[in-house]
Amino acid sequence: MLEVSNLEVAFGPVAPLSGVSFALDKGETLGIVGESGSGKSLTAMSVMGLLPLSGGRITAGSIVFDGQELTTLSEPAYRRLRGGRIGLITQNPMTSLDPLQKIGPQVDKVAVLHLGMTAREARARTVEILGTLRIPEPALICERYPHQMSGGMKQRIVIAMALAADPDVLVADEPTTALDVTVQAQIIRLLDDLVKERDLSLVLITHDMSVVAQTCDKVVVMYAGRAIEHGPVGAIFGAPQHPYTQALIGCIPKGLGQDEQLTGIPGTVPTVLNYPKGCPFHPRCPRAQGICATDRPAHVTQGDSAVACHFPGERA
Ligand SMILES: Nc1ncnc2c1ncn2[C@@H]1O[C@H](COP(=O)(O)OP(=O)(O)OP(=O)(O)O)[C@@H](O)[C@H]1O
Ligand code: SF4
Ligand SMILES: [Mg+2]
Repeated sequence: MLEVSNLEVAFGPVAPLSGVSFALDKGETLGIVGESGSGKSLTAMSVMGLLPLSGGRITAGSIVFDGQELTTLSEPAYRRLRGGRIGLITQNPMTSLDPLQKIGPQVDKVAVLHLGMTAREARARTVEILGTLRIPEPALICERYPHQMSGGMKQRIVIAMALAADPDVLVADEPTTALDVTVQAQIIRLLDDLVKERDLSLVLITHDMSVVAQTCDKVVVMYAGRAIEHGPVGAIFGAPQHPYTQALIGCIPKGLGQDEQLTGIPGTVPTVLNYPKGCPFHPRCPRAQGICATDRPAHVTQGDSAVACHFPGERA
């Protein structure tokens, strides 16, 4: 359904993203994890064709959606795709909602635009979708303004807008970061149910490894603009090969009654302007050798997984 290969993104001379690859089938959920600044949102923006808005451009690689190459797609064609067959859910619902317009018309608009429905048909569809998203009294909600709703409700409306065009793929960029913890869990469960009910493909961007473990089929671990390890969730969580993935998994708090130990990762994430030479993780890596500081590790493939490390392997 969606295949990204060797994606590279540049802003002028700086290249904050390089060598990002992953593939997503119908009905699958792919998690993209990594610390702040690792390139998760840039990856999402690339898929959505929204990079030019921030002055970035794709300098290498390909993005193929349903057999169609997206990196060379014209803007009008992209506009039909975006919000149509590929929906975006952002971190802050207010980037997608118009504060001055009632909820109903905002959601209706999507089906009018992308499915060619009449206003009346679109409203019936809006009410139905709001109902599926477990929004109480959907017809009444249509008459409300965004500021009359809680954060969690607003995010459900954004999800409704993304669903209104009957997409094949949803890209959710940290959809719950702005919400409180109990609401976060509800929204994640809702997305998970939608994927199953509608056979959707979901790209779920998060910094939370436990969310990935619970909801995703595949995972891409990002570090300093590189996909340093990717593969099926079972394989990656069962036997992570990259020291950074191992450290991230070590940070997941265990359940009550177990030894609660948070293994913080010492050191800080490099920024675009000081990406280390060689392996970007070498200043923080407990396993680093001389070659790690000079040579960038290539991806080594094993089954459906791949890892970029000179000395991959399970923790000693
Ligand atoms: N418009 C831009 N111009 C130049 N550099 C940018 C631009 N947008 C992002 N970057 C750089 O690209 C890198 C990756 O940014 P990105 O937003 O993808 O990170 P992220 O993984 O989504 O982080 P977060 O978890 O904080 O959302 C960052 O180092 C950032 O400084
Ligand atoms: S390449 Fe070297 S520094 Fe990088 S993760 Fe592997 S062992 Fe660590
Ligand atoms: Mg981001």
